[in-house]
Amino acid sequence: MKILVVGTGAREHAICEAIFGNAELYSVMSKKNPGIAKISEEFLQADETNLEVVKNFAVDKNIDIAFIGPEAPLELGIVDTLEDAGIKCVGPNKSAARIETDKSFMRNLFEKYEIEGSLTYRVFDNYEDIQEFLDSYEKDVVIKPVGLTGGKGVKIVGEHLKDNNEAKEYAHHVMKTKMGGHPRVVIEERLIGEEFTIQAFSDGKTIVPMPAAQDHPHAFEGDQGPITGGMGSYSDKNGLLPFMTQKDYDDAVKIMQDTIEAIAKETSPYKGILYGQFMLCGDGPRLVEYNARFGDPEAMNVLPLLETNIVEICQDIIDGTLKEAKFKNKASVCKYVVPDGYPETKYADTIVDVDEDSINDIGAKVFYAAVNQKDDGLYTSSSRTLGVVAQGDTIAEAEKIAEKATEFIKGHLYHRGDVATQEIIQKRINHMNDLR
Ligand code: GLY
Repeated sequence: MKILVVGTGAREHAICEAIFGNAELYSVMSKKNPGIAKISEEFLQADETNLEVVKNFAVDKNIDIAFIGPEAPLELGIVDTLEDAGIKCVGPNKSAARIETDKSFMRNLFEKYEIEGSLTYRVFDNYEDIQEFLDSYEKDVVIKPVGLTGGKGVKIVGEHLKDNNEAKEYAHHVMKTKMGGHPRVVIEERLIGEEFTIQAFSDGKTIVPMPAAQDHPHAFEGDQGPITGGMGSYSDKNGLLPFMTQKDYDDAVKIMQDTIEAIAKETSPYKGILYGQFMLCGDGPRLVEYNARFGDPEAMNVLPLLETNIVEICQDIIDGTLKEAKFKNKASVCKYVVPDGYPETKYADTIVDVDEDSINDIGAKVFYAAVNQKDDGLYTSSSRTLGVVAQGDTIAEAEKIAEKATEFIKGHLYHRGDVATQEIIQKRINHMNDLR
């Protein structure tokens, strides 16, 4: 069996590691990720959104299954292109991928199929209506561009925006600059609670959920600073999180299952990975957004725990026969190491020294992200550099190992030392207790 993984980052490195040893691994990546390059039979360094180039490589190598990592090629219809060439895919086609790429599609689906866990939202394509809406709306809001912005276009009143007046200004800016590719804005009520992620395999009819995880999207310690792609994440034994009950988890999974059934009715079966980002509110989970792919960093929590052969899961996704996936009953912690000052780019393209042997010796693992392997060494680029991941019987044990692992990485780098610490987790538990 030959599997092609499309994508360059740590998420794709984690997918590749899960496949490695179970199938012949091929990859297409825009920059040379040393972790992926090392375990690939062959790789092509090319833009992942150049669908013809990816297709030609896949056809040339007689690929059986293509696993699509990031959202950008999904938005462009990479699955449609590969399937037309006879290559099966793990990833939704262009129409089904709108669950991520078009936030108004997603919210309308909740409304039409009466799926639980939605929230008050409106989609706008003219500024006068935004003004009118915000002048009379009394709660704080969240402003989101309709299209993809790598998670960086979202701004929240009370965090990044002072009040709904500043929200108006930001919405105007989003429309004027067509942020995310469209002059349209989604305005949602601001939910108060604890965010969490559930990722699931989907064969178009059935989902098989993975352990829940919690990301730390703010750039700086103490949940301060701009929202980034995610600075680190953790998962716990039994698939739950310390502030979550089994019922919360089951309710969120039900929302995802209902969504998959609705997508199949509305367009075509959703085959791939569904990432649900939820807010656990006082009255249960509400859906914040979906991604049509694994989370980054959350893929690094769950994939190393996967005991079922991922190649069999991929085949089941394609055949529509998905049954179960077993995971090691361990906690996991991922800490992202980023260039100093990230998300500013002052230390992009600076050298990084990674002592991978020492990291492995203490029981952790490196997943490379936005790095560039050059002849004279490994360089950062403008985004997150690499993730270190550890497992343990408790989150505290995994956190200690992951934190220690960061000591073996040198350069103009930064990481959030507080990711998954007992202090921050206790804060989450207390917050949830206050809301219940
Ligand atoms: N962890 C956020 C994302 O994958 O989009």
